[in-house]
Amino acid sequence: MWGIVFYDVRSLVGEQVRIFDTTLRDGEQTPGVSLTPDEKLMIARQLDKLGVNVIEAGFPVSSKGEFDSVRQIARAGLNCQVCGLSRIVKKDAQACLDADVGMVHVFVPTSDIQIAHTIKLSHDEIVAGAVETVEFVKENGRTCLFSAMDATRTSPEFLHRIFKAVEGAHCDIINIPDTVGVAVPSSFYRFVKDICDRVNMVVDVHCHNDFGLAVANSLAAVEAGAREVQVCVNGLGERAGNANLAETVMSLHAIYGARTSIKTEYLVETARLVERLSEVKISMTAPIVGENAFSHESGIHSHGVIENSKTFEPGIMTPEMVGHKRRIVLGKHTGRHAVAKFLEEGGFEPTEEQLSEILARVKDLGDKGKQVASIDLQTIADVVIGDVAKGSQAVVLKEVSVMTGNIITPTATVRAMVRGKEKVLASTGVGPVDAAVNAVQRLLDSDTSIHLCDFRIEAITGGADALAEVVIGVEDDKGRKVSAKSAREDIVMASVEALVSAINRLMLLEESGR
Ligand code: KIV
Ligand code: ZN
Repeated sequence: MWGIVFYDVRSLVGEQVRIFDTTLRDGEQTPGVSLTPDEKLMIARQLDKLGVNVIEAGFPVSSKGEFDSVRQIARAGLNCQVCGLSRIVKKDAQACLDADVGMVHVFVPTSDIQIAHTIKLSHDEIVAGAVETVEFVKENGRTCLFSAMDATRTSPEFLHRIFKAVEGAHCDIINIPDTVGVAVPSSFYRFVKDICDRVNMVVDVHCHNDFGLAVANSLAAVEAGAREVQVCVNGLGERAGNANLAETVMSLHAIYGARTSIKTEYLVETARLVERLSEVKISMTAPIVGENAFSHESGIHSHGVIENSKTFEPGIMTPEMVGHKRRIVLGKHTGRHAVAKFLEEGGFEPTEEQLSEILARVKDLGDKGKQVASIDLQTIADVVIGDVAKGSQAVVLKEVSVMTGNIITPTATVRAMVRGKEKVLASTGVGPVDAAVNAVQRLLDSDTSIHLCDFRIEAITGGADALAEVVIGVEDDKGRKVSAKSAREDIVMASVEALVSAINRLMLLEESGR
């Protein structure tokens, strides 16, 4: 089906991989990120809707606020498991139990450098502390995950010793953190496989992105036998962050054929919520959830994608799968085919000559460094083709008057010819623009149902006599969307003209059965 392919990695077809999300713990440790308890709860609910297996909600012992927040999430009635972080210290683990989490994540540094400069205990003391804490968690009936922090810089002998010791204490899951992101996929594969071969517990990995390899390393680990991955939404986390949730999950699904419990259609929605609350912007070019992830501009690409989206997209992943939208962006690289398609969708029927002229104007704008939005294209087309609907405009505006002030409710009256019949209608609104827009909508027959889906007022020039550009988008009950704009010094007139123009364009589509 795919020709020469890289899909021999579909060795994981049908394998189930658990998704452990640590956005609210490691992700909140992103420099500059701080979430309120309400925001954390909102993200937790979204992660639950997304279908993660585990949410690491925080480090309960670290502060009263953190404790309350973890407990609030643990008691929120989510479907997923809620986890709290604990050092190999009884009071940490107790705080997790008191916060009502179902899973406790016990961690301890195991590399020489971290032991020497942080915990300063002997190997024997570390093993004893780990075993005691894991036993305490298990005696209290919770799931236990144990992490050997900085595992990739830990001597293999000590790592195997401590993992065997916690296995003896009935630990459920062991985690191999690449704490400072120094692993590379080929050696991480061997490293993880060696551990998987020696233990009888679920193996989990936690990869940091210092060299941009966190997702690649996580995937190598799954190939080697790990069956849980720790990820963060938008790749948040300490320093360069953790493995990105969307990238890891979609690679597992689409490339490897593995399964997770993630409802991938919520990936973009989740990424945008976390972007908004964390105030860490998603890059335009971010895979899967970035603005450009399914956008095409160049002529060759757009042409191909319009014919068949698999030409310049992976095909094994579509925008619909992840809750995104495909966009054809018009600019200097745009080809004739893309412009023709856009115009056709907008209800225009240009001649070949008109199409060439419109294309030339689009490229001219692109050369000046501008992108051409669909609304601009409609304006260009109006100018080049001539007002498409001049002869057959359904609504012809004659007069608009508005009364406003602080002692009356803003009221607008509109006089217009509607399909050849004069109508005069008035309406009130929260302000003069709202009143006028409502009055125009009342001009339409009761069986014509439209609603405003976009309304933007942009001052083009400065000062009290600024020219206001109003952009209006209208949708009918069949889901057809059109937009129009107008620019005037009078904001009410600009709004009414833009709305009437959009309505006329929609009526034209209706009449032509498009
Ligand atoms: O990066 C790390 O090692 C961690 C541990 C707590 C798992 O975040
Ligand atoms: Zn980490």
